[in-house]
Order: sequence, then C-alpha cells, then structure tokens
Amino acid sequence: GYIVETTFHVANLTVNRLCKNQVITAVNGTLPGPALTVREGDTVIVHVINDSPYNVTIHWHGVFQRSTQWADGPEFVTQCPIRPGGNYTYRFNLRGQVGTLWWHAHSQWLRATVHGALIIRPRLWQKYPFAKPDLEDTIMLGEWWNADPNDVENAALADGSAPANADAYTINGWPGDLFNSCISNNTYRLNVKPGKTTLLRIINVALNNQFFFKIANHSFTVVAIDAAYTNPYKTDVIVIGPGQTTDVLITTNQSPGLYYMAAHPYVSAVLPILNTNITTAILAYPNTTQTRPILPNLPAFNDTPTAHRFLTNLTALTTSPFWSPVPRTVDENMFITFGLGLSDCGANLSCGGLFFERMAASMNNRSFVLPTGVSLLEAFYRNISGVYTTDFPDQPPLIFDYTNISNSFDQNLLMTPKSTSLKRLRFNSTVQIVLQNTALIGIENHPMHLHGFNFYVLAQGFGNYDAATATSSFNLVNPQERNTLGVPVGGWAVIRFRANNPGVWFFHCHLEVHLPWGLGMAFLVENGGTPESTLPPPPADFPQC
Ligand code: C2O
Repeated sequence: GYIVETTFHVANLTVNRLCKNQVITAVNGTLPGPALTVREGDTVIVHVINDSPYNVTIHWHGVFQRSTQWADGPEFVTQCPIRPGGNYTYRFNLRGQVGTLWWHAHSQWLRATVHGALIIRPRLWQKYPFAKPDLEDTIMLGEWWNADPNDVENAALADGSAPANADAYTINGWPGDLFNSCISNNTYRLNVKPGKTTLLRIINVALNNQFFFKIANHSFTVVAIDAAYTNPYKTDVIVIGPGQTTDVLITTNQSPGLYYMAAHPYVSAVLPILNTNITTAILAYPNTTQTRPILPNLPAFNDTPTAHRFLTNLTALTTSPFWSPVPRTVDENMFITFGLGLSDCGANLSCGGLFFERMAASMNNRSFVLPTGVSLLEAFYRNISGVYTTDFPDQPPLIFDYTNISNSFDQNLLMTPKSTSLKRLRFNSTVQIVLQNTALIGIENHPMHLHGFNFYVLAQGFGNYDAATATSSFNLVNPQERNTLGVPVGGWAVIRFRANNPGVWFFHCHLEVHLPWGLGMAFLVENGGTPESTLPPPPADFPQC
C-alpha cells in the first residue's frame, strides 16, 4: 500500500445557513470536512491540530485499528482529548475492507460539524465486484443547528431534559432549496450524463436522526454497507441510521431533467415529529429546460415496515475477498438489554422534589459513565486500578414485557445506576450478543455501533427475543456484516463477532443524545500470544489528560 498523509486543522469559522450566520467548529474550513480517499491496504497519517476552543478527538468510524488501537479516537475510551492548542497524529492502515466509511469528532456533540468521508477503493489491479461505475459521488445526510451543538447538549444535560431537534436536515452540508428559498444557490447538485452509472456513497452523519432517502424516478442497487460488499439489492428507498454507510449504483436512464434527491427522518418512536422538513439535493441531466426538479415520494416518517424490509433484506457477498465465514461456535453468549430510562436520585429518590434526576439510558440497567482523568485503554495498558470494573453485566438483565405493560413496571428497570463496567473477552473468542430493546420510556430503533470490529447480523425481530423460535431463523451463511446496526424498535437483534483485536472497544448507541445518558458499554479484549496480537505502547505524542 501507499502512505496517505494529511493535516486536519480544527478551528471555528462562520458559515451561513438558513439565512443566518453561525459559528461552527470544522476541519480545514469546510462543512462537511475533507474526504480522505485511499486504497485498501494504504496507511493513513493524519496530523490533527486543534485550534478550536473545544477538546477534540477524531474517530475513524468502522476502521478496525488492528495494531493501532491508540488511534481509534473515542474520548476517554482510547485516548484523552486533544486540548485547545494541542495536536495528535493518527496513524492506521486500511487493510481488509473496501467501500465507504467516515471520520468524525468523538467528543461531546462536535461531530455535528466535524465529520467527513473516508473512501476506500480497491488496491491497484483489483476491482469492484460490479461493473466499474462511470462516476462516483458522496452524499452525506446530516443535520443543521441554529446554535452551537455543544451548547444544545450542555443545556439538555444541565436541566435533565431531551434536547431540541435539529433546525434542518442537510445533504452535504446544505438544507436544500425546497423549504429554504433564501439559499437556492446553496443546494448540492450532482451533474450526470444520460445512460451512465454512478456509485453513490451515502453516509448518515446526523447526530440524532435516521433517514429515508430517495431520488425521484430512479432506483438504487445496494452494493455495500459499512464498507462490506452486499449481494446486489434493488430498492427505490434507502434507510440509513447515524453511523451507517450505504453504497448504491444508480443509472441515469430517465429523460434529461432535474430530479430531487431527498431525505427526511425515519422516526420509529412514538414521538411528535419536531421538524418535518425535507432536505434536498439535485440530480441534473444536462440540457434540460425544466426549472423545478421532480420530488420523490418519501415514505411516512413512521413507516417501520418499509425500514424493516430494507434493513433485513441485505445479505453479504460471500465471494468478496474480504469475507470470512461466520464462526460456528460461540465462546461468549451474551444477552444485553438496552433502552431509555431515568437516572436515579439515590436511595431517597428526592432530587429537589422531583421523582428523577434526569433522562438516562442504559445497557443491562447500568448507565455507562466514562472516566475523566485517563482513558480506559490507558488504564488497561498501564494496569491502573479503580478506573473501571470488568463485571459487565453485574446482574441479570431486567426485561420489559411489552405484552403486559402495567404488570412489568419495575422501578429498577426505570431507574438506572451509573457504572463503568466492561466485559472482558479472551483474545480470539467468539461472541454472540442478543440485543434486546427494553424500556419504560420510549422504545425506538437504536443504531448500535461497535468499535474495532465488524459483526454479523444473524437475525432481527420485534417484541421480546425468544430463543426457541429465533435460533432457527439465524442466517449463518451470508448475514450482513456491519459496524452499526439499527436494532428494530421495541425488538431485538442477534450479532456475532470474533474478538481478534486486543484493546478497549466502545459499543454504544450512535444517536448522540443517548450517549451522555449512558447507552453504552465497552469490551476489553485481552492480548493474544503473539506480537501482532499484543497491544502496542501508546505513541510518543499521545495526549495526556
Ligand atoms: Cu461513529 Cu463511537 O462512533
């Protein structure tokens, strides 16, 4: 492979959106930030210089970080933040995956504006498992706030409430001209030629929304998700959660004209939909006299059957050079519940007369808290005690019975104590996890993201998991491989992975609002017996707390 070296300057700048000027934190002065385009097998070196007023870390979402665990990026999990005025160089290689990933800040809510694409093409002389596209482009579905996103987060955490939703949804940083006429020149536009095939790399960079995405009069063939090839899957709608990527082929087989690419949220929860705007970009064939693009018909916001059909129909391309078969034996069988709740006020349940302290979220009834003085990975490497425990789960999970709500009300399910409890795994052990959405407050589809690994999605369903019926539905032949999975609303999913990467790996909901509430945990994978399977020492410029 080659070496791709670049510098990320993180700094504040003023941009204009929704007819207002707003100060944002961004990389190299652009929103979205610069795309990193590499070939499989390349080594990436990114010098991050933090000239912003915030602590910053950068996470390379979906990169395995084998032998480069200190470059993964989540704040206080694998590193201390890069302080204002500080810098840190991330070095890692991109072996074993082709497709679309992305990078984003992993510190507070900075990733709202600190993000960009990470495009991995095949090595020289290697090919895509589909006809070479005539054109490639990236579509980043995001959110825009008429505020500093860190302020939005801090305000919500301070008063214990749920934060406000974004003011607009965006495509490649622009809300689009459909509802925002004052910025008609600032709508993303993709110019195409008739009769050609374009590879579109769709990334959900939003903090808190899953999206439906369509292009008027055009259909998609999905060829990869989360930088893992899929069997070609034809669809006219894409469903994508925060953190996920979906690579599709589109053919410009319509008459010359203007076609909207459009997205709005998929809202699985029973919630009032706070912002029903549609974000748009334009797909333009040349020489058209048309002035108003054609708008596609997006599914209803709460169209869970459409979302579920799309998300469960995807299968892995087992002829991919990067495919490895699903492990047939399981060393660690885990059952993890997760969902939203409230955080405990302590034994007397009095928080200034309130019943609860604030909104919380949990995995196995524990709200995960990050350390502040040292990262979990450094605590593991240096054997520092008192930073975390390895007793996850420290109690059997409490399961909510959807079929009998009043009988299953359990204060212990609602009120979740805080902990920093990790699950210790032997190197190379195989892990199966049943993920069960269970909560007294608001069930919804949670996009669960695992750092350091891809996992296989063996089965998914609604309601409570039932081993007797579910096991026979496991796909052990060509299950989709992902790093982020939207677990069906009020339902379950079964995933499997091989813990062949020593280190500390965050596993959390990629809806950013749920992360400070505690919807996460981490795996601690022990060293193996060889130099390659042993956690190396941290680099010399590693940020200190
Ligand atoms: Cu893309 Cu821990 O996140």
